[in-house]
Amino acid sequence: MPRPRKTSAPPKDAQSYRHPEADLAARPEIGAQAHFKKTKPPTSYRFDSSLAPELQWDGQNPAREPAEALIKEIADCGLRIAELAKQPAGSERDREITNQKSKIKNAESRLRKISGPFLNWSGKAERLSFDVPTLPLFIHERLSTKAILETLKGHKRDKQDDFLDALYGFQERPLADQLLRAYEYRDNWVNRLMLGDSLVVMNSLLRYESLGGQVQMIYVDPPYGVKFGSNFQPFVRKRDVSHNDDADMTREPEMVQAYRDTWELGLHSYLTYLRDRLLLARELLAPSGSIFVQISDENLHHVREVMDEVFGAENCCAVIPFKKTSALGSARLDAVNDFLLWYARDQEKVKYWQLYLPVVDDTYSFTWVQEPDGTERRLTSEERHGKKPISGRLFRTDNLTSQSGGSTTGFAFALQGKEYRPSSGAFWKTNEEGMRALARANRLIAVGQTLAYKRFADDFPARRITAWWDDTVPSTFATEKLYVVQTYAKVIERCLLMTTDPGDLVLDPTCGSGTTAYVAEQWGRRWITCDTSRVPLALARQRLLTATFDYYTLKDEQRGPAGGFVYERRQNQKGEEAGGIVPHITLKSIAHNEPPAEEVLVDRPEVVKGVVRVTGPFSFEATIPTAEGLDTKPETPDIQGEQYEMYVQRMLEVLRRAPVLRLPGNQTVTLKNIRPPAKTLALSAEAVVDKASLTNLADDASKQPALTRETDAVAILFGPENGPLSERLVREAWDEAGLKHYSRLYVIGFAIDPKARQFIDSAAKIGLPCTYLQATMDLQMGDLLKNMRSSQIFSVCGLPDVAVRRVKLPRSAIRNPQSAIEQWQVELLGLDTFDPVTMEADHLNAAEVPAWLLDTDYNGMVFRVRQAFFPRTGAWENLKKALRVEFEDTIWDHLAGTTSAPFPAGEHGQIAVKVIDPRGNELLVVKKLEDK
Ligand SMILES: C[S@@+](CC[C@H](N)C(=O)[O-])C[C@H]1O[C@@H](n2cnc3c(N)ncnc32)[C@H](O)[C@@H]1O
Repeated sequence: MPRPRKTSAPPKDAQSYRHPEADLAARPEIGAQAHFKKTKPPTSYRFDSSLAPELQWDGQNPAREPAEALIKEIADCGLRIAELAKQPAGSERDREITNQKSKIKNAESRLRKISGPFLNWSGKAERLSFDVPTLPLFIHERLSTKAILETLKGHKRDKQDDFLDALYGFQERPLADQLLRAYEYRDNWVNRLMLGDSLVVMNSLLRYESLGGQVQMIYVDPPYGVKFGSNFQPFVRKRDVSHNDDADMTREPEMVQAYRDTWELGLHSYLTYLRDRLLLARELLAPSGSIFVQISDENLHHVREVMDEVFGAENCCAVIPFKKTSALGSARLDAVNDFLLWYARDQEKVKYWQLYLPVVDDTYSFTWVQEPDGTERRLTSEERHGKKPISGRLFRTDNLTSQSGGSTTGFAFALQGKEYRPSSGAFWKTNEEGMRALARANRLIAVGQTLAYKRFADDFPARRITAWWDDTVPSTFATEKLYVVQTYAKVIERCLLMTTDPGDLVLDPTCGSGTTAYVAEQWGRRWITCDTSRVPLALARQRLLTATFDYYTLKDEQRGPAGGFVYERRQNQKGEEAGGIVPHITLKSIAHNEPPAEEVLVDRPEVVKGVVRVTGPFSFEATIPTAEGLDTKPETPDIQGEQYEMYVQRMLEVLRRAPVLRLPGNQTVTLKNIRPPAKTLALSAEAVVDKASLTNLADDASKQPALTRETDAVAILFGPENGPLSERLVREAWDEAGLKHYSRLYVIGFAIDPKARQFIDSAAKIGLPCTYLQATMDLQMGDLLKNMRSSQIFSVCGLPDVAVRRVKLPRSAIRNPQSAIEQWQVELLGLDTFDPVTMEADHLNAAEVPAWLLDTDYNGMVFRVRQAFFPRTGAWENLKKALRVEFEDTIWDHLAGTTSAPFPAGEHGQIAVKVIDPRGNELLVVKKLEDK
């Protein structure tokens, strides 16, 4: 085994960190969509039609045709084998016969599957196939903890300026002290956090990026399909949720949708939802890959049936109960565990690393002791229960015979003057020579009339992990949950270590607070994760940006984690095995006089001391339709055209049911007569404002131009189903609405480009007023979801209020002589926000904002996070502790604050500030760097 390298080279110059520009050509940056022409039709997925829900094989049943084909195949193979039997023997003939036999076996097992019992549910029979839009994924944000920290390091201490003094005091120490590193991958691979429905995202990975067959492990922690009304977390900071409490029923976009009472057919829709996603997950898995689905006991049986169907019952590797909580004190048995369903893509090829648990004084299994003077005795009850210390080596007695053997292992063997024989029909596990070696090593013990093998507890200081995980709840409060339904890291860690190698690709289509990404990052696996809800994604982003890990020694720095970690055999001061390689003394090794075998404990790689490892660069992505899909309504009634029409119809229907719009400035407005416009180029709908509904128009008129009472017809534009509204789309609608004398334009979208948002906010100054309403992503779940309560559908989010100012730095504060003395600084003043629960517009103080991010040189497209602030949270606490030698406390106060570090103007002459509001909404403003 190579030895670990002791230290690393000092990090690169702080100023020189650059976000990698291009990773995969298939993933353009946001803003490039106008040039992105790779439009693809939706992808159709079919289920195996033979798994139909009816057992009678009548003409209607899709099972009949494949079943008859299979019967014919068996008959044909039979005939062929009979023919071959007549031919002269030879290897060619034998091979052909084997081939025919395996065909028969295969057909037989498929026939059995067809005639076996299966799970049926409403809608299953009608849904033998389904379509998924095929959309590219675009990069919206690039993030790197190193980039953020090294930006802050690029300045010098200055004693005259308190702020700078606080900020740059650490510069007194040499840069070489800083050992801040991250794992990076070859070929510019960048890990990926994504906003989007798992079905759409997985389809993009398959059809746009050809990642089919390349994912080594998939971890799915879906909603459990129970108590649909509870258990979601609408706020970034508030972890407690209550069942059906209206205050918790978020009306914001993209809440944790599956935790609500919104499934059209309850469990039936839920099973459809799961089956669709599992089908795509299977396509993504590598031939040696594994999938784990986390589920509670309520639906374990159903989900297992669905997984049997999609992956094949023969590929079920294990059902693992794992502990999730301590006793709850309920009236009957406490349910303290959930389950993992582990399936292989192909059981025969599955990658598997055995995991081991440390053995510490296991007096349950090891009930004997060999005292220092050699005396062998059973443990006393006090010793077994830990009431009295044990002096000596623990051992247990193992069977020395087996049912198989022969003339060399059936002999009589004498120990201390007494002769022993295996019982009738049994044989010694080794020959005479071996037995003598065991006796010499003092490994034999007489138990009654027979001989047994002495297995010492320290023969192997570990025990194989089984499928029963009752140690997964952390013992301390140290690992406080960020997210109400967060999985304990240990559970996912085990799945990952068992079924992947460093550098392998891991996917979690149910990101939540990002536990899979976090664990994958910790263990040097590449990761992709997605979620439909912005609340957990905001938590995941923060968790990843501020995490610290051990730096596991790499076998090959050039190859990165893909080259593997270094494992070594090592003992601690007490002489216990403490390394990742441990000896395994066995009966066989003693009997054959061989050195003990060695096992690798994959969870114990060597660690480079003194290095703080942070999360490597990652991107934040979302699906976006291509240029055509985004900016134009399809003109031909093709499939996409039809889909678009259906989408507009659905949105119209939703708007009719939820016609009360709450606008900033405490305004409400009710729409009536909502319908498609007679002839239109760019508009989606028109409506009439119910005059009686106009309230509080005088309030805060400066913020929003008041609705006019003269004309009351308003125009409506729906943004694209799978991406942000572009400026062009909004402008076209706005021009048309102005020409047609509507009084206002309402723009409703799932997301919006910053330029489009800027245009909307300034529209009233140049003409027709315009308002942006954000729609919940739940609407994209189509048929699966029930009609939602009207108040949950559309919301207006505020805009960040920021001040940008020049600061003059003393020359002594500039490290790089080329840097400008005149720099810029951004202060977040707050957020004009709208609370959809109280229906009030409000100003949120900057210090209350969960997170804000700054790109000091915004290129108008992708947001490069160069500074990241988490006001009022201890988010940076980990890094603060780990880097305390490098940074003074005030730096961390700063990162939890509302004022940026000074920065020079970049080549684009503009900055962007992204604020994450308490409901996870992302609000972006762009400012030019120019003097007022
Ligand atoms: C139980 S949570 C996962 C928690 C995660 N294991 C953790 O440790 O934080 C399930 C997540 O799946 C997300 N989700 C539900 N349906 C989804 C879908 N169709 N596509 C993507 N994400 C979805 C929810 O928003 C929620 O955050």
